[in-house]
Amino acid sequence: MKNIKPYINEHKDRFINELLDLLKIPSVSADPAYKNDVLNTAEAVKTSLEKAGCNKVEICETPGYPIVYGEKIIDSNLPTVLVYGHYDVQPADPIELWDSPPYEPVIKKTDIHPEGAIFARGACDDKGQMYMHVKALEIMTSTGQLPCNVKFMIEGEEEVGSESLAWFVPRNREKLANDVILISDTGMIANDIPSITTGLRGLSYVEVEVTGPNRDLHSGLYGGAVANPINILTKMIASLHDENNHITIPGFYDKVEELSRAERDEMAKAPFSLENYKKALDIDEVYGEKGYTTNERNSIRPTLDVNGIWGGYIGEGAKTVIASQAFAKISMRLVPNQDWEEITELFQKHFESIAPKSVTVKVKPHHGGQGYVTPIDNIGYQAASKAYEQTFGKTPIPQRSGGSIPIVSLFEQELKSKTILMGFGLNSDAIHSPNEHFGVWNYLKGIETIPYFYKHFTELSTK
Ligand code: BES
Ligand code: MN
Ligand code: MN
Repeated sequence: MKNIKPYINEHKDRFINELLDLLKIPSVSADPAYKNDVLNTAEAVKTSLEKAGCNKVEICETPGYPIVYGEKIIDSNLPTVLVYGHYDVQPADPIELWDSPPYEPVIKKTDIHPEGAIFARGACDDKGQMYMHVKALEIMTSTGQLPCNVKFMIEGEEEVGSESLAWFVPRNREKLANDVILISDTGMIANDIPSITTGLRGLSYVEVEVTGPNRDLHSGLYGGAVANPINILTKMIASLHDENNHITIPGFYDKVEELSRAERDEMAKAPFSLENYKKALDIDEVYGEKGYTTNERNSIRPTLDVNGIWGGYIGEGAKTVIASQAFAKISMRLVPNQDWEEITELFQKHFESIAPKSVTVKVKPHHGGQGYVTPIDNIGYQAASKAYEQTFGKTPIPQRSGGSIPIVSLFEQELKSKTILMGFGLNSDAIHSPNEHFGVWNYLKGIETIPYFYKHFTELSTK
């Protein structure tokens, strides 16, 4: 492959500006108020794929937001790479915590990104990382170096559970047929420590509702004599972990894949500084399941976390009241072999069983998905590894991530192919948080590395 760096250098300002334009559209899938923006983003992605050299691009309608499909088929005897990404973003709230408006991207230098980072909602998750693939395609087509077939499938509901994609994939198996799936929607250890994500956790997301008296009550007249739903809910939630931070739901750990000592020792070789980890979060101590390291806790172990909790009076001043209801949103991150629907059921049964008779409890399952692990002895992983070697000058480290892309296990089930997760974001990029950003260096490095994946994957498959 001809050196592509000169092409990148010549076009890098345009590459950056095109991404900035995409980031200006607030494609928040969770909030119906942004519906038109989400649809406009799909159109923008479609146009970008056409310009990058796809010979067929379409907006595929679904029961929800559309899926942008594009392809460039050069020879049916050559392998096909299917690129997946998402054009929707998380809500920007709490907006007052942003240093600059979330949909007015700016480039600022940071300690970790001395060459500048793009600050905007979606910069890293996933518009910036998805767009690296569009630009990588442009480079390969305009320098005459696309070595195989490519298909793009960019969805608009990843941040809300990929329901429409789960509908679309089984109905379009033929169209989506591929030899490997390539995704940039995860991270790496550091800019000088490249890594490839080999695992994602599964997810079960539920909402719980605790109802006590039929109306809000005076907390003096009734306090102490009737159940306070907020007291009860917090007590129930607290009981979901024991003193070792093990989850107490019966059966929760039954299917958890236990890693061997040897595998855990291998994992522990990845560079990691607990001091820096704590410093970056301004915490004096880490916290978690007894018997596991920080990196094990956030990757190979399942978790249960309250994501939001509400009820009662939270306005100015004091109001003496016992609320009639209390609510919480709870996520459980799952590891290989745990089935998300089974875990959701176990949660529901247990949570209802621990409720005192003085309240009623409702558990509403939201969404979920299975975890995923890629073995590293396949040509997809090897092609990715060689690509990083070429552009980073180092062999990447395989690393399991704590995050979830629930649709990946469905890809394997429906399309029978492995997914390679080439993420170029950093944990410090603040995805889902205020001031999300993506390093300009990371963006360009991703664009540079991806074409080498195509090259090596094609070579390894046709060997
Ligand atoms: N891109 C993230 C997942 C991710 C980020 C995985 C970093 C590994 C490293 C994705 O957009 C995401 O946010 N997924 C959600 C799940 C989804 C069902 C809302 C998550 O992990 O919370
Ligand atoms: Mn994402
Ligand atoms: Mn996300």
